[in-house]
Amino acid sequence: MVKVLELAGVNKSFGKFQALKDVTFSIEEGEVFGFLGPNGAGKSTAIRTILGLLKRDSGKIELMGEDATSNVLESHKKIAYVPGDVFLWPNLTGGETIDLLLRLGGHERSKHTDELIKKFELDPKKKARTYSKGNRQKVALIAAFSADVDLYIFDEPTSGLDPLQERNFQEEVLKLKAAGKTVLLSSHILSEVEKMVDRVAIIRTGEIVKVGALTEMQELSAVNVRAVITDSEVVTGFAALDNFTQQNSKISFTVTHEQLPSVLAELAQAQVHDVQITPPTLEDMFMQFYLDNGVTANDQK
Ligand SMILES: Nc1ncnc2c1ncn2[C@@H]1O[C@H](COP(=O)(O)OP(=O)(O)OP(=O)(O)O)[C@@H](O)[C@H]1O
Ligand SMILES: [Mg+2]
Repeated sequence: MVKVLELAGVNKSFGKFQALKDVTFSIEEGEVFGFLGPNGAGKSTAIRTILGLLKRDSGKIELMGEDATSNVLESHKKIAYVPGDVFLWPNLTGGETIDLLLRLGGHERSKHTDELIKKFELDPKKKARTYSKGNRQKVALIAAFSADVDLYIFDEPTSGLDPLQERNFQEEVLKLKAAGKTVLLSSHILSEVEKMVDRVAIIRTGEIVKVGALTEMQELSAVNVRAVITDSEVVTGFAALDNFTQQNSKISFTVTHEQLPSVLAELAQAQVHDVQITPPTLEDMFMQFYLDNGVTANDQK
């Protein structure tokens, strides 16, 4: 397996504040890797450090087996990067900007670029200064998806996109994945990335708290169940379950995967009218991690 990106023991401080603490993870060729953590966790700082836009204090960052930051210009030819806040040259049009971004990375505009402009419904003739946040993001995304590189890095890429464009984004990432490309996707919302990612790293206050297959992590955490039952007398049977709440015939609670079959059987007894079972959110997974490590929910701050 080729390691496309490897971070080992990366530290970064801003003055006295340590934003990255011993950050270690690696991404293999063909993986879509999720980089998840709440606001301020250090995702963008880690990404900027990988790109050499910020200088790390210590640790190793390798791209395709070589130091990623000793020759930043060369590294940037191997990476397509879309930041969370896209700033563009105000007097260039969207189309000119896409061309320039591609050329800066040593790439060329292709038929695929034009297809992407159509797909994302971008008007390439408008000056960048007239674009909304979402449109600026589209410009950078189109340039990134048109480039043929070793690693695609998207920092909270869908924060400015509407649901239709978010779906287009997901489709394009899945196309990269099908083509065996490697992608790093950061987000503070698990549901935004769960359809695309294979493995994830969870970062919190500058520390990687877990790295692993998303499905394995989700199996370790409880699932959320919401149900509407018609026989409300049976409710008492559910009241002992974790996070139980009730509003008339609507109940909700959380259970482990092992408890799920028996709970579903009980729900059937209670003449269930509607049921929703949702996988754990990023917050649920954090909770589980901290509970597993003997920290109570209140200690986390
Ligand atoms: N240039 C800087 N100078 C000082 N502190 C900084 C700087 N950049 C980031 N930080 C701090 O480092 C921490 C991590 O910030 P970062 O932007 O990496 O978080 P993030 O995980 O990307 O969050 P978000 O989801 O909000 O984008 C925050 O506490 C932030 O205030
Ligand atoms: Mg960020």
